[in-house]
Amino acid sequence: MANETNIFAALIAHCKEYGYIFQSSEIYDGLAAVYDYGQNGAQLKKNIRDEWWKSMTQLNDNIVGIDAAIFMHPTTWKASGHVDNFSDPMIDNKDSNKRYRVDHLIEGFAEEQKAMGNEQLANDTITAMDALLAANDYAGLKKLIEDNKIKCALSKTSNWTEVREFNLMFSTQIGSVAEESETIYLRPETAQGIFVNFLNVQKTGRMKIPFGIAQTGKAFRNEIVARQFIFRMREFEQMEMQFFVRPGSQMQWYEYWKTERKKWLESMGLPAGKLRYHNHVKLAHYADAALDIEFEFPFGWKELEGIHSRTDFDLKQHQEHSKKKIQYFDNDIDESTGKAYGNYTPFVVETSVGLDRLFLTIMSLAYVEEKWTKEDGAEDSRVVLKIPTKIAPTKLAILPLLKKDNLPEIAKELMDECKQSFHCFYEEKDAIGKRYRRMDAIGTPFCVTIDHQTKEDGTVTIRYRDTMTQERVKMSEVKGLVLGKIG
Ligand code: GAP
Repeated sequence: MANETNIFAALIAHCKEYGYIFQSSEIYDGLAAVYDYGQNGAQLKKNIRDEWWKSMTQLNDNIVGIDAAIFMHPTTWKASGHVDNFSDPMIDNKDSNKRYRVDHLIEGFAEEQKAMGNEQLANDTITAMDALLAANDYAGLKKLIEDNKIKCALSKTSNWTEVREFNLMFSTQIGSVAEESETIYLRPETAQGIFVNFLNVQKTGRMKIPFGIAQTGKAFRNEIVARQFIFRMREFEQMEMQFFVRPGSQMQWYEYWKTERKKWLESMGLPAGKLRYHNHVKLAHYADAALDIEFEFPFGWKELEGIHSRTDFDLKQHQEHSKKKIQYFDNDIDESTGKAYGNYTPFVVETSVGLDRLFLTIMSLAYVEEKWTKEDGAEDSRVVLKIPTKIAPTKLAILPLLKKDNLPEIAKELMDECKQSFHCFYEEKDAIGKRYRRMDAIGTPFCVTIDHQTKEDGTVTIRYRDTMTQERVKMSEVKGLVLGKIG
């Protein structure tokens, strides 16, 4: 059993052992900050993505979904500001040549101080850092690092370079011959695919403001400090929604989505006490207000989702760079003037959550190590993933008690009946207790055992993952029972 301090390491090991997450290209010693999802991980990720998609595009009649390409015309990134502004202040240690994001280096120091009981110093350092970042004062940031004698984790020295900006976008070439090729970028956010399609969707869908366009998909960032497992990756997936509103109404919608998104995260099983808002001090180049919804990860409070009021920056930029008019004609009457609102560039409120980060929150809440004393006095234990039933990768395990006496055939009949409606797993090997433990470890909420009594009265034993309690129910009622719990 892992203790508090190594529970996160235990979760990472568990993800690998039970087919949730593998290091990318592991046989070649892996690729830093890139991960593959295994058979259970891919299904869980899909279930989370489906819930988000449904909540956006099915439950809101004014939000539609699209699927834009990863590659976009290179001018997109010039227009969006990413070529010039999508960079982070970095600092290198001259002895180890290790590069750090300045804010991560200082935050790491503050966390260490907090752990040592120096809460005041930790808070003062973060306050000073926020002010320096907001002012783009790189000399001041370097001085803050030096004054606090912050050291490189590798060389253990404070021999630092100047603070410099590094662009986070990956680039590649399009075209078959290098000389003919043009540099294009792997998108660092999915949002731009929505902006460049604003008119296509608005016109073909006859969308009326306010309306939203949602999208899920891969994004790529050359993160310098990639750590904490799937928290910060170089290739990751975003679930973003751009909500187009009348100029002047953006703050009202910003408040609306701030509340709605926190409610949705809670509906995914995240406790309210582990979520909080964090207002941005340094606003991105496109925003007039922004906040993070933070989650209390096993390694501290960190950003899970961003809510950004992006003004009309992106649409105006694309209009200027493409020389195509990107406007909306609003024929509703403005009560203050008695006239139609007319033509304008809509303002945008964005909600942007990392699918991998949400996956990590769900796994860190689900992972539980339990220990108890049995009736005969012996100790027992298990590791269980208490993943919410509606998103668990496998809903039902169907287990014939023995591999004979027609029990497998009856079990397969149940499998055939249920697999049309939800994901089932069939297993006939090993003692039943061992099979239950394996299902606990991958987070299967229900196990059904078919035994000799099934042949006599058509009943089976259903076992519940979270309580380990069992009851006998009619086999014909199993499908309905599971469907009821999923709903
Ligand atoms: N379109 C706005 C945008 O991209 P962001 O705050 O940079 O905003 C949004 O990213 C979300 O994407 C974050 O809240 C986080 O959940 C996720 N995210 C960002 N960078 C990530 C990374 N390197 N690895 C995993 N998830 C990341």
